[in-house]
Amino acid sequence: MAIIYQEKERIFTLETLHTTYQMKADSRGELLHLYYGKKASGNLDYLLPFFDRSFSGNPGDAGNDRTYSLDVLTLEYPTLGVGDYRSAALDIENSDGTECVDLRYYSHEIKKGKYALRGLPAVFADEEEAQTLSVLLKDSVNGVQVELLYGVLESEDIITRAAVISNEGTDAVTIQKAASACLDFLHGEYDLISFYGRHAMERNVQRAPIRHGAFSIGSRRGASSHQYNPGVILAGKNTTEEQGSCYGLLFVYSGNFSCEAEKDQFDQTRVLMGLQSDYFHYPLNPGESFTVPETILCFSDQGLGALSRRYHDCIRNHICRGKYAHGERPLLLNSWEAAYFDFTGETIVNLASEAKELGVDMVVMDDGWFGKRDNDDSGLGDWQVNKQKLGMSLKELVGKVNDLGVRFGIWMEPEMVSEDSDLYRAHPDWALRFPGRTPVRGRNQLVLDFSREDVREAVFTQVCQVLDSGNIEYLKWDMNRSLADFASAKGVPGKVAYDYVLGLYDFLEKLTARYPDLLIEGCSGGGGRFDAGMLYYTPQIWCSDNTDAADRVFIQYGTSFFYPACTVGAHVSAVPNHQTGREVSLKTRGIVAMAGTFGYELNPALLSETEKEEVREQVRTFRKVEGLVRNGDYYRLSDPYEEAFAAWAFVSKEKDRALLSVVMMKKHGNAPVSYVRMKGLLPEAEYENTLDSRVYSGSALMEAGIPLPLEMGEYRGYQVEFWRRQT
Ligand code: GLA
Repeated sequence: MAIIYQEKERIFTLETLHTTYQMKADSRGELLHLYYGKKASGNLDYLLPFFDRSFSGNPGDAGNDRTYSLDVLTLEYPTLGVGDYRSAALDIENSDGTECVDLRYYSHEIKKGKYALRGLPAVFADEEEAQTLSVLLKDSVNGVQVELLYGVLESEDIITRAAVISNEGTDAVTIQKAASACLDFLHGEYDLISFYGRHAMERNVQRAPIRHGAFSIGSRRGASSHQYNPGVILAGKNTTEEQGSCYGLLFVYSGNFSCEAEKDQFDQTRVLMGLQSDYFHYPLNPGESFTVPETILCFSDQGLGALSRRYHDCIRNHICRGKYAHGERPLLLNSWEAAYFDFTGETIVNLASEAKELGVDMVVMDDGWFGKRDNDDSGLGDWQVNKQKLGMSLKELVGKVNDLGVRFGIWMEPEMVSEDSDLYRAHPDWALRFPGRTPVRGRNQLVLDFSREDVREAVFTQVCQVLDSGNIEYLKWDMNRSLADFASAKGVPGKVAYDYVLGLYDFLEKLTARYPDLLIEGCSGGGGRFDAGMLYYTPQIWCSDNTDAADRVFIQYGTSFFYPACTVGAHVSAVPNHQTGREVSLKTRGIVAMAGTFGYELNPALLSETEKEEVREQVRTFRKVEGLVRNGDYYRLSDPYEEAFAAWAFVSKEKDRALLSVVMMKKHGNAPVSYVRMKGLLPEAEYENTLDSRVYSGSALMEAGIPLPLEMGEYRGYQVEFWRRQT
């Protein structure tokens, strides 16, 4: 039983394999948070602090009890206006302009299976795999009620949280701020690990102590953004990859978000994950309800590595959907860095024939095939093939590619419009803009108002016409600017940021329903919308526009804390690298791209015969290890920020097979030997390597490690597989 309710004490306990989460509805009906962490039995309400604290007020209905203050208690869903001075999960503006909502326990329900959210992506699970707790809280004055939803995936050590806010009163209210998860800690010193970045350098790792005062990250860009990923880890001071406690909070949402961490006056820590309150002012009329997107919580007492592996399993098994969630992905060659906007149909056919020669499955025609689109100043919105440029119809092109035995994929950016396009000339009001102002441009393009159904429908028709015009098996769904003008020609400005994302989800839901066999790869200037929300519709996302293997080591390292390799779009590109000018060997580029979906992003015609042979060999290698990379457990074996080399491994669930990959990041003269220690093997088993058939015990590989070849120069890669010997 994953969810236990003790009626007398009104205590709710959520149990997973290794963790306990507990809360209590007290005599006032306040839902107090008691505990989250490693399995702990019994009632933990004895932990709560009841002291008379000056300047921490007492709720009016607590009588003369000066020891009861919401300012010091740990709360499950704190609200603004009730005497808690920390940051709140919910802020409601009432019709009279006051900001107060006072939520009390009303009822609850425990159900089999995992709840779903209307219009939003969420973890899914079978009836046997999960249980749901729904706790209904009500404000008796303004009629606002909140259903707190908890999904418990017992064997996965996952707890999800979401909230549905309803107006059951008689007057309209406005939601000013809404989070789905709040974690209050009574004591403890924590670091916050967050993932910051920029276009072409996403998800750098930052670890900083949570001190007094609030620390926040978030996005106001309309997408989850390159700048901060909507996932954070709260780690104990001494927590490492393999040891110590840590908590993950991963927001299943692709738009504006906010995550706050705060240490208060009594050294208690609060972490909130939810919607960004800037550009958010969501009116709720009587009878209406609003869903706050889900946060996936996970706790590990075995360090960050175990936490990541739990998220990887959760995303692979309970977020990614469709045929490709567990299916082998096509190994593709993308035209972007091969040709940019400068191609014809023949160029694509040539790429396909080169791809065939190299053993590649699919060619993807990237940006530039439609409307008037020879650079990024025009054409977005006109999703009709430019026959003049291609010299053939799309149907003919796909046919020619398929005739070579190569599959075909295409690029689109459906959310965008160029001012120089027929679509914009016909419907200027379809772009987001503040009334009376010139909209902010990004990459010289405007954003279509996806909060509007009529706009989405018109674009949907165009997208379907493209996809129906031939045997198109893959779509790269791009989104190449940040939103800025959160206003719609129809509708309420304070709703646009959220409704836009729900519009996008609605579009993608319809698209995946209509084309169940289509593989969609998400993209936003690379990894500008790399989040669990998008992964519900697109099982892989182009990880970064930066294809330089040396930089990718860091980008993929940061990405690996939450997201499994099968979601990470990664390609081998040409050197000197187009983003950094760096020259890294083909071998290293291959090794780094094999920690993702693997593919190519170059013109094979420019490779020498020796390089082509090496590519063929890489393709053969990847086919052998593909299942291991996609389904295996991922281990970070070094911290590339601190150590001379980057190393990671994939280990099969059965622990009978492992792939070790290393890239030397720094090298000095007459350097000491570097040793890398494996993880995740069976200590007592024997493993044979695939390079020279040497046999080691699992314990030796894990405890003593193996020496890296001394001749490994800077950015040189090393890859070896280990197979368990059958005894
Ligand atoms: C974005 C993508 C690239 C490419 C270009 C095309 O930057 O991330 O991979 O598709 O758009 O314009």
